[in-house]
Amino acid sequence: MSSVSMTDYRKQLLSEVSGDVLEIGFGTGLNLPYYSAAVTSLTAVEPNEGMGAIAQKRINESPIPVETKPLSGENLSMPDASFDNVVCTWTLCSIPNVKKALNEAYRVLKPGGRFFFIEHGLSDEPGIQAWQNRLTPIQRVIADGCHINRKIDELVGAAFDQVAWEEFYAADLPKVMGYFYQGIATKN
Ligand SMILES: C[S@@+](CC[C@H](N)C(=O)[O-])C[C@H]1O[C@@H](n2cnc3c(N)ncnc32)[C@H](O)[C@@H]1O
Repeated sequence: MSSVSMTDYRKQLLSEVSGDVLEIGFGTGLNLPYYSAAVTSLTAVEPNEGMGAIAQKRINESPIPVETKPLSGENLSMPDASFDNVVCTWTLCSIPNVKKALNEAYRVLKPGGRFFFIEHGLSDEPGIQAWQNRLTPIQRVIADGCHINRKIDELVGAAFDQVAWEEFYAADLPKVMGYFYQGIATKN
């Protein structure tokens, strides 16, 4: 998760994030160093408390005020329209009810708010898709529920009013693992 190319994608995606921000699937806080001074607060949702010690070290080193919440993306406790931006990186693959989590992200965004995402998912090549469909049941077991065959653009597009995204293979990953969707979705 901290390879050179993934770090570059994080930096690129997060450079435009601002205001009061929610991050879903905070993990060990790998995104934290790449938020700019335009981020005024960060609420970090992560259901796996095992990530906490490493995350806390990064939180202590960050100038951004961070509040952690041991929640799942499917069930956010925050009121409607709480955040300027929501961020989700390499997490939609692992959330069991991903549609519900995306609807929750939409709910907690303010009108005009933006959802920033980078995820791996279903390739546009039929031959790679076939392998992704074959391997996903194994991947789910060995990688904590991770699916490599989700059609991320359709999932995000169904939950938001607009979505702008690009799809590409990460340079340094096998094609079945490294078909990336990166974009910004908007709530009217
Ligand atoms: C591959 S890691 C990515 C972590 C981090 N976002 C990053 O970019 O390094 C997937 C993360 O999704 C989290 N996750 C799994 N199920 C979730 C859920 N239902 N709601 C929110 N996060 C979840 C995992 O605990 C893990 O931290």
